[in-house]
Amino acid sequence: MKGRLSGNMSDKPVCVSDFEHRAKTILPKAVFDYYFSGADQQESLVDNVAAFKRWRLLPRVLKDVSKVDMSTTVLGQSVSMPVCVAATAMQKMAHPEGETATARACLAAGTGMMLSSWATSTIEEVAEAAPASVRWMQLYIYKDRALTQSLVRRAEEAGYKGIFVTVDTPYLGKRRDDVRNRFKLPSHLRMANFETPDLAFSSKQGYGEDSGLAVYVAQAIDPTLKWEDIAWLKRITSLPVVVKGVLRAQDAREALKYGVDGILVSNHGARQLDCVPATIDVLPEVVEAVGGRVEVYLDGGVRTGTDVLKALALGAKAVFVGRPILWGLACEGEKGVSDVLQLLREELHLALALTGCRSLEEINRTLLRRSEQISRI
Ligand SMILES: Cc1cc2nc3c(=O)[nH]c(=O)nc-3n(C[C@H](O)[C@H](O)[C@H](O)COP(=O)(O)O)c2cc1C
Repeated sequence: MKGRLSGNMSDKPVCVSDFEHRAKTILPKAVFDYYFSGADQQESLVDNVAAFKRWRLLPRVLKDVSKVDMSTTVLGQSVSMPVCVAATAMQKMAHPEGETATARACLAAGTGMMLSSWATSTIEEVAEAAPASVRWMQLYIYKDRALTQSLVRRAEEAGYKGIFVTVDTPYLGKRRDDVRNRFKLPSHLRMANFETPDLAFSSKQGYGEDSGLAVYVAQAIDPTLKWEDIAWLKRITSLPVVVKGVLRAQDAREALKYGVDGILVSNHGARQLDCVPATIDVLPEVVEAVGGRVEVYLDGGVRTGTDVLKALALGAKAVFVGRPILWGLACEGEKGVSDVLQLLREELHLALALTGCRSLEEINRTLLRRSEQISRI
C-alpha cells in the first residue's frame, strides 16, 4: 500500500472530506471506487449529503454552554456521543488491521460499532480486539437459514448487543464502477465469517464480467425475504433487532407490527436503488409514524457535526457513519478512525454549544428551518 499520512502538521485533516481526498490518493482505484460508489447515476449519493444543507440552524443564545453533555444510549447501551459506526464490508482492503482497528478506535471513543456480515475479520476476532466495546452485528439473511442462524448465534456468544438486519438488499444495487472494475476481493482476503470459498467471496471463484459482489449476492442472499422473516429472526434471538434500510412511514409501521426494537432510516449509503430520497428528507415521516415506540436512527451522508445535530433535531436517537470511517482507516488505521470520530465529536460539541444545547435533550425541531423558508423571510 502506498504512503499514509506523514504526520506533518500542515497535512493534518481538519474535516471528513480531507480524509476522503487523502484516502483517494492511498487506496488502489478499484478499492476506492467500491467504497465510494453509489448506485447507477449516483443521484441519491449526492443528495444524501446535499439534503443536510437544505436545513439551517437557528441558534439559541446566552444559555451557559460551558458544559455540554453528548452522552446517550443506543438500544440501551451507553455511548459517549450519538455518532456510531455503520457496517461497511471488507475493511481489510482499507488497512491490514481492518475491522479490529475500527473496533479498537470505537472502544477508545466510547461509541458503538456495527460489524458487517461481510467483514474481513471474524465476529470473534473483532470481539477479542475490543472486548469492552459496544458492538452490534449487521445481518444479511442468506438463502441458507442455518448459516444465517449461526451468524446470529456467534454474535450472541461473542457479546454483541443487537442485530441490525439489512432489508434493502434482495439483490445488489448496480454500482457502475464495480462492474467496470469487475470488483472482487484481493486474493489475500476473504469474508472471514464463512468457511467455503463461494460464501467467503474468494477471488478464486469465477464472477464473469460483472461486479463480483453482485454475482455473490445473487447466489447467496435470499431475495424472497418478507416481513415474516423478521418474525423468524425475532424468534431465534433474544437480542434486540433493528431493521436497517427503511425509507417510508408505512414500512416503519409494518416493522413495529413485527416487533422490531429499532428502525434505521437508511438507503444503504445510496448504493442500492438510485433516485430514492436522501435519508434526512424522509426521517421526519418515519419518526412521526413510529411515535416514540422504538428508537429511530439515521445513516447516509453524515459528514459534519451540524449534520448530526440536524438529524437529532428531526428525531433520530443517533446517527451512523459509513464512508468517513473507511477514509480514516485507509489513511492511518486505528488512529485514522479515532481521528475521524474525534473530529465529529468536536464538531458536534461546537454545534451544540453554538445552538445553546447543553445536552441532547435540549435539541428540538425549533432549531431548524428549511433554507428555502429563510430566503422568503
Ligand atoms: C463500502 C461500503 C460497504 C458497505 N457494506 C455494508 C454491509 O456490509 N452491510 C450493510 O448493511 N450496509 C453496508 N453499507 C452501508 C452502510 O452500513 C451505511 O448504510 C452507509 O454507508 C451510510 O452512508 P455513508 O457512507 O454516507 O455514511 C456499506 C456502505 C459502504 C460505503
